[in-house]
Amino acid sequence: MTGDVVAILLDQHRRIKRLFADILDADGTRKEGLFHELVRLLAVHENAEALIVHPAARELIPNGDAVVGERLREEADAERALAALCDLGLGHAEFDRRLGRLSESVLGHAAQEEYKEFAQLRRRAGAERLRRMAAALDAAERAAPPPSPGQPVTATFDEVGRRMRAGLKGTTSA
Ligand SMILES: [Fe+2]
Ligand SMILES: [Fe+2]
Repeated sequence: MTGDVVAILLDQHRRIKRLFADILDADGTRKEGLFHELVRLLAVHENAEALIVHPAARELIPNGDAVVGERLREEADAERALAALCDLGLGHAEFDRRLGRLSESVLGHAAQEEYKEFAQLRRRAGAERLRRMAAALDAAERAAPPPSPGQPVTATFDEVGRRMRAGLKGTTSA
């Protein structure tokens, strides 16, 4: 496990970017499997940010409430778009075009986080705080359930969040 929460977050952003590209290249059951992997990874990543990263950013970075508020709005929009895409179904003629559009907005959101939030956190949090946040993020990801293909997106996000909160109880506070 890395000792820096920002390194873990950047790696998750890279995995998300690669999954979007791989889904657009795939078809059949492989495409379906990759899509459910993306739903799980986004649920893990955004819940971990909400539980561990955004609260620290609010506390430590200048104008933190405003910066985090914008990111939370982007995250809610992305969750809604992902749910709509799931309802549309992978076989729909519009699926790839809409997935491409969602990919652009999610990657734009990630770039904003990296520039306005993570870089500032790395500068201000201190090595020990970054290490504790990394340990919490690692524990949160391990507590998340595996992909659940039949489950609606919102239910997946909620369940992942619930399990992560339970998994974090008893660990050192981030
Ligand atoms: Fe995010
Ligand atoms: Fe992110």
